[in-house]
Amino acid sequence: MTGFKNIIVTGGCGFIGSNFVHYVVNNHPEVEHITVLDKLTYAGNKANLAGLPTDRVELVVGDICDKELVDQLVSKADAVVHYAAESHNDNSLQNPDPFIQTNIVGTYTLIQACHKYDVRFHHISTDEVYGDLPLREDLPGHGEGPGEKFTPDSPYRPSSPYSSSKASSDLLVRAWVRSFGLKATISNCSNNYGPYQHIEKFIPRQITNILSGIRPKLYGSGKNVRDWIHTNDHSRAVWTILTKGKIGETYLIGANGEKNNKEVLELILELMGQPKDAYDHVKDRPGHDLRYAIDATKLRTELGWEPKYTDFREGLKDTIKWYTEHRDWWEAEKAAVEANYAKNGQ
Ligand code: NAD
Ligand code: DAU
Repeated sequence: MTGFKNIIVTGGCGFIGSNFVHYVVNNHPEVEHITVLDKLTYAGNKANLAGLPTDRVELVVGDICDKELVDQLVSKADAVVHYAAESHNDNSLQNPDPFIQTNIVGTYTLIQACHKYDVRFHHISTDEVYGDLPLREDLPGHGEGPGEKFTPDSPYRPSSPYSSSKASSDLLVRAWVRSFGLKATISNCSNNYGPYQHIEKFIPRQITNILSGIRPKLYGSGKNVRDWIHTNDHSRAVWTILTKGKIGETYLIGANGEKNNKEVLELILELMGQPKDAYDHVKDRPGHDLRYAIDATKLRTELGWEPKYTDFREGLKDTIKWYTEHRDWWEAEKAAVEANYAKNGQ
């Protein structure tokens, strides 16, 4: 029994937020009402909530920066789980404006309302606030030694407009906890994969490229490492922190899923029956972070969370199947997404 009967999920029409809404509906009957507050930007899609019971899940189309709307919704809620954000690094390099507005001002608007009504707040953040790490082969402990993965004590050193806006939002939450007693927790998660991810992102972009007869695109050499986690494992971790986490604490979420981009792309090609080298190297991302890696010991030992999706190959197979069976979900947007990348040489 959590006591959270009426929760707000911001960004619940996006990739990870909508997976979380499905997870709560399917696993936590004690939550009677979920209000999804979502602006439906290019990344938000009402269809991500299709099939969910309308008596339990209500979509409010609106902006987290809208103080009056946020105040009115938060006044009736038991908890806010805050996913809404501008989330794509490449977009933030082209135009940082919405990142500053949504990620910083939006978070500020929400925490002010949660403070006013003494409502529990959980802030969803990213491992990118910690910058990047050297490759395993260049480290004395080969990636397993002290300081060779991110921990909650790693220094903040974000690289991109996106990650610096997320770092700013984390710092606001921390200050509101300390100065105003906001009942908040923060989680910083690694790269998610799974259904409903926008096709601008690496894994769905390559899957839908292959399904569209376009050659996949690898930035630079492809040696950059991401620490992949299935989005359902992220959802369970967030629920665990929301219900069992200690107020004021930061938890890192990761599932020991380090892989470089070339390996991931070659696996996608193999699983889709393509030659291993059927892709193009394209222009690298400016300031491209080299390696992310999460030490999730605190979450595992203090809160007892463990990932369930430990076989990346199987998780990727399911994800490929989902995009193959849901062409209507992504096909209309494909040409515009690729045209935008092409303008940038990517
Ligand atoms: P996404 O881009 O798929 O979805 C973002 C959602 O937020 C969309 O539905 C969009 O319409 C909504 N939104 C944007 N601006 C809004 C505003 N001003 N008001 C209301 N709604 C707004 O993002 P995602 O990949 O699902 O990421 C969700 C959260 O998780 C973000 O906070 C992101 O920083 C964090 N995160 C993502 C990953 C990842 O791998 N994708 C990993 C760690 C953390
Ligand atoms: O680490 C968590 C972060 O993961 C989240 O905070 C972000 O919201 C999320 O978008 C993701 O950021 P990345 O920049 O790591 O994800 P992206 O899918 O854009 O790229 C993953 C890697 O693949 C990265 O090294 C860049 C590379 N890439 C990306 C694209 C789109 C390619 O090689 N080719 C591509 O076409």
